[in-house]
Amino acid sequence: MKEYPNGLLMPAELSAQIRDKYYHVDIDPFTGKKRLFFDNSGGSMRLKAASEEFQKVDDLPNCGGHGGKASDYLDSLRVKACDDMKTLFNAEGGCIMTSMTASIIIFDVSEAIIENVPGTNVVTTELEHPSAFDGCEIPSTKYKKEFRVAKTDPRTGSIPVERILELVDKDTCLLSVIMTSNITGAILDIETLAREARKIKPDLYIICDSVQHTPHGLTDMKGCKLDCVNFAPYKFGGLRGLGVGWLSDRVMNLPHRKLIRETQSNWEMGGCAPGMYAMLSAIFDYVCWIGRQFTNTEDKRALYVEGMNRITLHERALLHRMLHGSDDAPGLIGMKGVKVAVEMDDLTQRDLIVPIVFDKMSCEEAARAYESAGVVIHERTDKSLYSARQVNSIGQHGIVRVSPLHCHTYDDIDEFLKITAELAK
Ligand SMILES: Cc1ncc(COP(=O)(O)O)c(C=O)c1O
Repeated sequence: MKEYPNGLLMPAELSAQIRDKYYHVDIDPFTGKKRLFFDNSGGSMRLKAASEEFQKVDDLPNCGGHGGKASDYLDSLRVKACDDMKTLFNAEGGCIMTSMTASIIIFDVSEAIIENVPGTNVVTTELEHPSAFDGCEIPSTKYKKEFRVAKTDPRTGSIPVERILELVDKDTCLLSVIMTSNITGAILDIETLAREARKIKPDLYIICDSVQHTPHGLTDMKGCKLDCVNFAPYKFGGLRGLGVGWLSDRVMNLPHRKLIRETQSNWEMGGCAPGMYAMLSAIFDYVCWIGRQFTNTEDKRALYVEGMNRITLHERALLHRMLHGSDDAPGLIGMKGVKVAVEMDDLTQRDLIVPIVFDKMSCEEAARAYESAGVVIHERTDKSLYSARQVNSIGQHGIVRVSPLHCHTYDDIDEFLKITAELAK
């Protein structure tokens, strides 16, 4: 991966096949007009297979656990999806938890750890989504633990590992850190952080919000040895209405909200729609399908790794094009009237999320101007509780967030750059 610091596009023929697997890539279904959908961090374009597999199962009236062919089939979907998700996270043991949102997962797990694990302080970062940040702050206050927050480096929009380690000590109960910022696109070095933090406290509980990283790169629980990781399928080609997490054995076994006679591994109250399990497997199978175009193996993790690495490399190439342009047109970095809000020197430390600011337009004005020009992006400002702390931490009141997907191509990026140059004038 490091051998392609500026990324590597997928072959054009495969790129076309990938594009065809998504709904509404080129045309806005509301206006019927051509448009670029560059707000995939808000909710990604849908994979046709994810939507269709969900619908097929959701039409069945049967109930899992009731016996009979249809019921057994529904049960088997859960088993397969949990297997697929463990492979996706490269996780061993523990359990898969689903809930209505990724926020609920990180909230419930944070509270269970802070309530039950000894320690007098909790460490997190300024870059967290409110679900992880408040998910730590509320129980820290309730259980009287000191709440420590690592500061963002405004230059890079990331947080150096040492800055977080300075806050960890032998009394830290929980370290909760985001994997990729949904505002700046910075990937935090979780593997080094986890390794070094456990030198300070060997049995430290560490959890990660991976909602924005999982759709763009590998999540590897064996490599990082985390206690919980989560993601939201609707940001990964899937449907809204489900959050997914993996919990380590020791988190799984903490006291948590459940029916009295329910097993310890069940962190769900009731069950989610079985179609959701089919949808999860469809996302997993899609990444494996990409992997299969490049490698000849039946090993599921190997296929997933290959597929996800190809996605990462393709998106890195799109990011490089967006920043540096081509011989024909400048990229964002060389463009007058617009700035990338944080430095992006090393693209191996970034996912495809680019925060920009205009010299002469507010973020809100820019968002509406983009819409009129046929580009869907979203402004993240300090008027929203979902982004105030994070944008302020990079010294901004707001940014325009640009988030394409690996089903896009250089042509899409070039079109976006052309429109941006017009708006920046
Ligand atoms: C980094 C991050 N974490 C968590 C969430 C919340 O996900 P959900 O809507 O599934 O609760 C989001 C949503 O934007 C996010 O970007």
